[in-house]
Amino acid sequence: MTITIRAAREDDLFAITAIYEDAVLHGTSSYELTAPDLAEMTARFATLTAGGYPYLVAEIDGDIAGYAYAGAFRARPAYRFIVEDSVYVSPRHKGKGVGRALMEALIAEAARLGFRQIVAVIGDGHTDSASVKLHAKLGFKDAGKLAGTGYKHGRWLDTAFMQLALNEGADAPPDPASLPERRFRGEI
Ligand SMILES: CC(C)(COP(=O)(O)OP(=O)(O)OC[C@H]1O[C@@H](n2cnc3c(N)ncnc32)[C@H](O)[C@@H]1OP(=O)(O)O)[C@@H](O)C(=O)NCCC(=O)NCCS
Repeated sequence: MTITIRAAREDDLFAITAIYEDAVLHGTSSYELTAPDLAEMTARFATLTAGGYPYLVAEIDGDIAGYAYAGAFRARPAYRFIVEDSVYVSPRHKGKGVGRALMEALIAEAARLGFRQIVAVIGDGHTDSASVKLHAKLGFKDAGKLAGTGYKHGRWLDTAFMQLALNEGADAPPDPASLPERRFRGEI
């Protein structure tokens, strides 16, 4: 079995929409309660890629096994060096290393673009969550928890924050050639 990671294309969005729909309807990692349709997922994809953010898919034998993207953590400009990751794997392909392969590629791409922190905001985040374990394996550190901040499937959920520094994190000044700085100056 080979996992191929590549940039997502618009024709992957049907599969991506189905993967996310399963997570929204049956899981607690996303706090959306109604699954977005193909048009909405296409609009979100267009916004992310127009902003230069990485959006990746994993393929196994031609099947879209999962996807991951990095987007703005919050819109206010002092946050511009931070990205928040999202990663979702098809129920058919969980536990095969797809999430890890996607995240390794996403971290590399976020670093290449010049971001300084990548953060995970993990719905229903607790020590046994698959997502918490995945992020911890990749070097993310616990950055706190907002207790009882989600309510889904009849339960109150804690939201876990984790973060990984990129490109020396806060130990170096901003890089003028980085994507966030070029975008801030209006060059892109
Ligand atoms: C979290 C998720 C992306 C992991 O993807 P995956 O392809 O199944 O994970 P991998 O096979 O790459 O596993 C990598 C590591 O993650 C952890 N992990 C994955 N699934 C796990 C599970 N069910 N329970 C505990 N840890 C798990 C393990 O540490 C694993 O390393 P190991 O195999 O050496 O033990 C996937 O379970 C998923 O899509 N979950 C629903 C959506 C979600 O939680 N997204 C994250 C939003 S922030």
